[in-house]
Amino acid sequence: MISLLKLLLTFAVFDVTFSSPVLQTLQAQKKRFSPPTESVIPLEHDETGKCIYVKSEEGIYLFSSPGSPQVCGLYVIADPQHSVHFTFHEFRVSCEKGGLLSVVDGWELNGQFFPGNEDHPKPPEKRFAEYCGENRPWSTISTSQNVGLLEFRLPAKGDGFTVSVTFSQNPKPCNAVLQQPSGVYTLRNYGQRVNCTMSIIFPETFQILASSVGRHSTPITGRTMDVETGIVKKCKKLGLEDYVEVRGGDGLDPSMMSVAEDFCGTDSVPGRSSVDVACGNSAVRLVSSGKFENSVTVSFDLLMDWGSPSLVCPTLLETP
Ligand SMILES: *[C@@H]1O[C@H](CO)[C@@H](O)[C@H](O)[C@H]1NC(C)=O
Repeated sequence: MISLLKLLLTFAVFDVTFSSPVLQTLQAQKKRFSPPTESVIPLEHDETGKCIYVKSEEGIYLFSSPGSPQVCGLYVIADPQHSVHFTFHEFRVSCEKGGLLSVVDGWELNGQFFPGNEDHPKPPEKRFAEYCGENRPWSTISTSQNVGLLEFRLPAKGDGFTVSVTFSQNPKPCNAVLQQPSGVYTLRNYGQRVNCTMSIIFPETFQILASSVGRHSTPITGRTMDVETGIVKKCKKLGLEDYVEVRGGDGLDPSMMSVAEDFCGTDSVPGRSSVDVACGNSAVRLVSSGKFENSVTVSFDLLMDWGSPSLVCPTLLETP
C-alpha cells in the first residue's frame, strides 16, 4: 500500500507529458463542447497491465479500453491553491457491457478518501457521481480541492472517453495533497467552521513557524484584548474547539491517522521542537469552530533523523 502511494507520488512529481500529434484527429467531436485543439494525451495500460495514472498537468486525456475488466484510476493533482475541472468531450461507456465511470471530488485509494469525512465541504454521497450509457457527465465537474479522480471500469473493447483536465485558482484553499516532500505551508479557515488538512505522502518532520489558532483573551477594562500566550498542547483534551493536529498513518484518510501532537494558541516565534512523523503518510489538520480566524504555518521536510519520532507507524517499518 505504501509502496503504491510512493509509486503514485513518483509519477506525480516526475510526470512527463508526452503528446502524440497522431491523436489530434479527435477534433471531430463537437456537439455542445468546443473541439479539443491541444494535443491529446493517451492513457495506456502499462507492461504489467495496470491502469493507474497520476497526472499533474492540464491537458486532454484519452482512454480507450483494450477490453480488460480492470478498475482504472486517473488521479489528478494540481498545486495546493488550485482546484481541478473535468470536461468530457467523448464518452462511450456501455452500461450493458458492465462499463461505469465515477468522478470523485478528492482521491480514493483502498477504500480511504481524501479529504476525510470531517474535512470535506460536501457530504459523502455528494462527493462522487457515477455515469454510464446516456447518463453522461454533460457539464464540467469541479473539485473542492487540488485533487480529483476518475475511476472507471470499461470491459468492452473500444469503450472510452476523452476528458479535458484544467486547473483554476481556488479562492479559499482548505484541503490539499502536497506533491513536494519539503516546503512551507499555511492552513487557514477564513473565519469559517471548516476543517482543513494538508497531507503529504511521505514520513515528515514538521516545525511550527507561526500559529494563531483559537484565542486566549484577557478582559482589560471591559474590553477584550488579544495576547500572545504561546503554544498550548493537548487543546482538544482541554475541551477547546479550535486546534491543530499533526497526524500520521498508512492511508489517505486523515481521520484514520493517529495524532502525533495537537496544539493551539498564538505564537509567531518559530518553535524549537519539531514533530517527527515516521509514517507513510503525514498530515497537518486545522480544526476550526468558526469562532476564530485561524491560521497555522508549518515548514516540513522528509524525515531523515529517525531517532526519536513523535509517532511511529509499525506498518511502515514492516514494508521491505
Ligand atoms: C471538524 O472536526 C471536528 C473534530 O474532528 C468535528 O467535531 C467537527 O464536526 C468537524 N467540523 C466540520 C465542519 O465537519
